[in-house]
Amino acid sequence: MKKLVVSDLAEDEIETVVSLWQECGLTRPWNNPYNDIAFARSNDNSAVLVARLEEGGPIVASTMVGHDGHRGWTYYLSVSPEHQSAGLGKAMMKAVEDWHLAKGIWKSQLMVRTGNEKVISFYESLGYNISATQLLERWIDPSKRGDS
Ligand SMILES: CC(C)(COP(=O)(O)OP(=O)(O)OC[C@H]1O[C@@H](n2cnc3c(N)ncnc32)[C@H](O)[C@@H]1OP(=O)(O)O)[C@@H](O)C(=O)NCCC(=O)NCCS
Repeated sequence: MKKLVVSDLAEDEIETVVSLWQECGLTRPWNNPYNDIAFARSNDNSAVLVARLEEGGPIVASTMVGHDGHRGWTYYLSVSPEHQSAGLGKAMMKAVEDWHLAKGIWKSQLMVRTGNEKVISFYESLGYNISATQLLERWIDPSKRGDS
């Protein structure tokens, strides 16, 4: 397993991480990443993690983790394009699972947008299965409505 130095996102790293998420095609107009980051950092049930190849080096991967007291969730998993396919995504998911376990959460879940099929193969290679459950959703504030 590739070794990463993983830490909680610091205030002065926010711009770098938003750029990484944008570079990886993960941001959507209806999800303001700055709001997501601020919310994730505002409570103990969620966090934004960043990873480096060595202490003090540049950020090469990131993700947002959280739990609802029942299941663990992962969002914005991103590896900088020049470092992809070198085992960093796998190592980052290990960090995510360690974070969940440390919170007493035994099941890790995530959503992949329809059309992002190749990413499903990545998660399957890590032991994730397509869930037998269906996700239902409703925009309870329609003014915030996005495509998904
Ligand atoms: C998806 C992503 C995080 C994967 O990270 P990565 O560092 O490139 O992947 P890794 O090198 O750690 O791959 C881990 C394993 O998955 C496999 N894998 C990676 N991409 C794959 C793909 N597209 N299809 C099949 N298998 C894949 C690798 O072969 C590897 O298996 P191995 O350990 O048996 O060799 C990265 O490509 C990325 O940031 N993509 C853009 C953002 C994105 O789509 N994020 C997911 C949002 S749901």
